[in-house]
Amino acid sequence: MRYGIFSDVHGNWEALQEVLQFYRTEGIHDYICLGDIVGYGANPKECLDQIRGLNAVCIAGNHDWAVSGRLNYDVFHQSAKEAVDWTRGKLASEDMAFLNRLPLMFKNDDFVAVHGTLSEPENFHYMIYMSDARETFHLMERQVCFVGHSHVPQIIIQHGEKVVCSTKMNADISPADQYIVNVGSVGQPRDGNPKASCCVYDAAAHALHITDSRMMLNPPTPRF
Ligand SMILES: [Fe+2]
Repeated sequence: MRYGIFSDVHGNWEALQEVLQFYRTEGIHDYICLGDIVGYGANPKECLDQIRGLNAVCIAGNHDWAVSGRLNYDVFHQSAKEAVDWTRGKLASEDMAFLNRLPLMFKNDDFVAVHGTLSEPENFHYMIYMSDARETFHLMERQVCFVGHSHVPQIIIQHGEKVVCSTKMNADISPADQYIVNVGSVGQPRDGNPKASCCVYDAAAHALHITDSRMMLNPPTPRF
């Protein structure tokens, strides 16, 4: 099974097209969206429709729940609050209901997925410190956990008591280790690389890679 795993589209339709075009060359069987389909970008409705059309497994991001009224967004910074309010005006009631129903986690035989961390996923913590990663490793019931939220792609590996950040954007899954994989952001990268980021996980081959997708050279400026 080859999974196309992506996150944080944030209504950036152009970036989503680039990622999906890339995925078409990768023989993807199933798509997994790790949340924040909407918020910030100019095309929340179009992105939502397209992702639903993929029959992607979708989990909730903080912006998805804020827009749908399920999360209090008082703590959001001003531009994010304005984006939530603006996005609501672009969505139909059925879209809001879809976002409202999104679950916080997904788990199958191959991996577990969450937007932020496995610790209190409803509070959408960022995985910033090694202690955050250790908490999620402790809660993992699978060998691999995919996350988004920070918009920074990263692979963290636990080997015995040791937890390290990989310097690579690919990994061969070793039976002895556990992996937290941040797939980065499709629509609003925050790692200094303006190209969209996404992940391919080949469960049968025990291999994954994150790519900047050779794609988006000039990301559109978010509009509110
Ligand atoms: Fe996000």
